[in-house]
Amino acid sequence: MARIGTPLSDTATRVMLLGAGELGKEVAIELQRLGVEVIAVDRYPNAPAMQVAHRSHVIPMTDPHVLAGIIAAEHPHIIVPEIEAIATDVLVEIEAAGHATVIPTARAVHLTMNREGIRRLAAEELGLPTSPYAFVSGAAELAEAAHRIGLPVFVKPVMSSSGKGQSMIEAVEDAGNAWNYAQSGGRVETARVIVEGRIDFDFEITLLTVRSMRAPDQVRGDEGAVRTDFCAPIGHRQVQGDYVESWQPQAMTPAALAAAQDIAAKVTDALGGLGVFGVELFVKGDQVWFSEVSPRPHDTGLVTLATQTMSEFALHARAILGLPVDVSLREPGASAVIYGGMDATGVAFEGVAEALAVPTADLRLFGKPESYERRRMGVATARGATVEEARERAREAASKVKPVAG
Ligand SMILES: Nc1ncnc2c1ncn2[C@@H]1O[C@H](COP(=O)(O)OP(=O)(O)O)[C@@H](O)[C@H]1O
Ligand SMILES: [Mg+2]
Repeated sequence: MARIGTPLSDTATRVMLLGAGELGKEVAIELQRLGVEVIAVDRYPNAPAMQVAHRSHVIPMTDPHVLAGIIAAEHPHIIVPEIEAIATDVLVEIEAAGHATVIPTARAVHLTMNREGIRRLAAEELGLPTSPYAFVSGAAELAEAAHRIGLPVFVKPVMSSSGKGQSMIEAVEDAGNAWNYAQSGGRVETARVIVEGRIDFDFEITLLTVRSMRAPDQVRGDEGAVRTDFCAPIGHRQVQGDYVESWQPQAMTPAALAAAQDIAAKVTDALGGLGVFGVELFVKGDQVWFSEVSPRPHDTGLVTLATQTMSEFALHARAILGLPVDVSLREPGASAVIYGGMDATGVAFEGVAEALAVPTADLRLFGKPESYERRRMGVATARGATVEEARERAREAASKVKPVAG
């Protein structure tokens, strides 16, 4: 993309977001700042990114005909999937026909939406270290795989995210329950799950990895090429498969950091395209295992709003437009999630002033029309001289914010 046009005119540079949640909202804001025309799509009205887009559409994104229709009507230059529940076959066709660029690539989006696609690529094709695993299609097979791999094991539907349908079992007798639970939590009825041996890690990280274009240099006679940069590692804590707290940088040994960057480079090279990737890794001492990868900004990376020169959202916006990026860390920081705490529509938030009175604290309230008990409605961020100080501040700020029924 050599130039950027004027939004809502014939020269407009149009970007369509498929999925309009809180991560898409921040990407949309960054694109708006660069004068890009933003079209937000999701399956419910008034989704966070819709509130800051030029236009929006409410469609079932898993329906290939409806999705193809909206893309044809809007003819975006760039399509940015934000979630996994998308009819990815449509994206493959659109990319093959040269109608739009899919971020990072249609194949990457397709492979990563299914745990089997990305795990087989990482472990079997690239030879990266992962937990021991098996794919099974029934409760008896699951019990057999759990026994073979060794307990405890994690059981996850191959098409699922955010911990849905996931469980950990410690006894072979629990295989039936885990199987039934996985069937209830999967996105589609694939009736297939991954069984993973537990990695006894010291901590887990997200290594944000950015593929961007290096600008051409006439002096060097350099035509420009894709380059890979790594953000400082982000540590995080997960509860029930959902992140509750993240911080940056996560201290790790030089050997572990080198291994993490090597794994991230290999997996993102194999996926290709431009943009931010969230590479999830488990770390124990100098040893690193690949867990999974999002071909887009990562929820734990919300911390970068406070810590980096350019947040992961600014990095994504720049990278997908073919622009140069700066991944430098400015200061240690942390993020803490604010949950809905209730099932209600149109909630209000009290305690905002108290939260923002915490030194260095900042807030994002996502503006989701509907709150659920465990729905992420906002996030608090903070900086500090140390990660520990930042974590305390972020947790304190988040705890001050109280959703109340309208
Ligand atoms: N094999 C494993 N060993 C240890 N912990 C795991 C394993 N698999 C998952 N977990 C824990 O569960 C969390 C969610 O698993 P993940 O595969 O990332 O699912 P999701 O796609 O829902 O994020 C991980 O961040 C980690 O804390
Ligand atoms: Mg994960």
